Amino acid sequence: MGKEISTVGGVADVVVVGGGLIGLAVAWRLAADGMQVTVCDPTPGTQTSSVAAGMLAPITEVEFGEDDLLALNLASVAAWPAFAEELEAVAGVPAGLHRTGTLSVAYDTDDAAALRRLADYQRRLGLDVEELTGRETRKREPLLAAGISAGVWVPGDHSVDNRQAVAALLRAVEKVGVNLVREHVARVLVSGTTAVGVQLDNGDTITSSQIVAAAGPWSAQLGGIPDELRPPVRPVKGEILRLRVPEAYRPALTHTVRATARGFGVYLVPRPGGELVVGATTSELGYDTRVLAGGVFSLLRDARTVLPITDELELVESVAGLRPATPDNAPILGPSGIDGLLWATGHYRNGVLLTPITADLIAESIRTGGVPKLIEPFLADRFAHRVPDNGEQTPKVAR
Ligand code: GLY
Repeated sequence: MGKEISTVGGVADVVVVGGGLIGLAVAWRLAADGMQVTVCDPTPGTQTSSVAAGMLAPITEVEFGEDDLLALNLASVAAWPAFAEELEAVAGVPAGLHRTGTLSVAYDTDDAAALRRLADYQRRLGLDVEELTGRETRKREPLLAAGISAGVWVPGDHSVDNRQAVAALLRAVEKVGVNLVREHVARVLVSGTTAVGVQLDNGDTITSSQIVAAAGPWSAQLGGIPDELRPPVRPVKGEILRLRVPEAYRPALTHTVRATARGFGVYLVPRPGGELVVGATTSELGYDTRVLAGGVFSLLRDARTVLPITDELELVESVAGLRPATPDNAPILGPSGIDGLLWATGHYRNGVLLTPITADLIAESIRTGGVPKLIEPFLADRFAHRVPDNGEQTPKVAR
């Protein structure tokens, strides 16, 4: 855990609001550069970052028309190995990177048609994908259902044990002298058009001319920001399961499997120790993190359709987290419209994936005072015409 302070009237070169993977990685990079960094979070690393499955999936999660996001995602998946190596060297514990590749799997013939359309698009984008028959797919993962009709092998999509990554970053920030304040930030303090610090829920203030807001799905609720500058980030709930594979069936899978089963999407992410992470639902229910029976049911239904031995696995954990979503599914990075306040938020489905590149780009922004080229498509002002919202919305559930 980072050096604990109960700051009253503290001062820092940089205050990072939010101690998830993004906030911790930004803090680590800046403190390693010699800056005095304070991270404020009542429960660092315990929210979205620890619920996620940790897929690094720029190719298998590519969506039609999201070319800028794809470029950022590819840059970040390429950055992960060096990031993990450096993190492990500093933290002395595993960063959790597993370079296994990903197998996309289609159950019935309609699922196969959709998979082929996506593979065509991936190929047009120049991405490395290999189409497989059902038989070839099962050769790569013998415990998949006999009925699997097709697959696509994606060697460039990997996974990270996100809980190991969080633990490593918490160690790393401690090693480089980051101050960890276990308090919620109530508001950014602004003088004129310039950020001058933050005020905590307990009333204490921390003076700083550089604030990085990495508050994930809570970013739109940060106090002190004028309505027109609040980022349009909303919470999108995801339920996820952790199963334990008995010794007799290990490894149940050797690659991440992303499946479509009778039109429903499900992914299965194996960990070396015998854990299998199954995710995830997608529901627009505001800040609700209850695990619903329907969510667990649908995940298990689809998992056992593609991997019948799911029935034999121990259900160890069911949990729900909140993805920080934006109107165009891409993150909000860099200048906020308030001098000295930078956004590092809105990573939606790609928070684990985008951790290294976000940390590097935000650190570079602070070091140089400029806007790195890669950040330009992700500036907050692309939403300047939108009616502000505070992260709450009408309930809507979808899979
Ligand atoms: N990236 C996987 C998810 O958001 O469910």
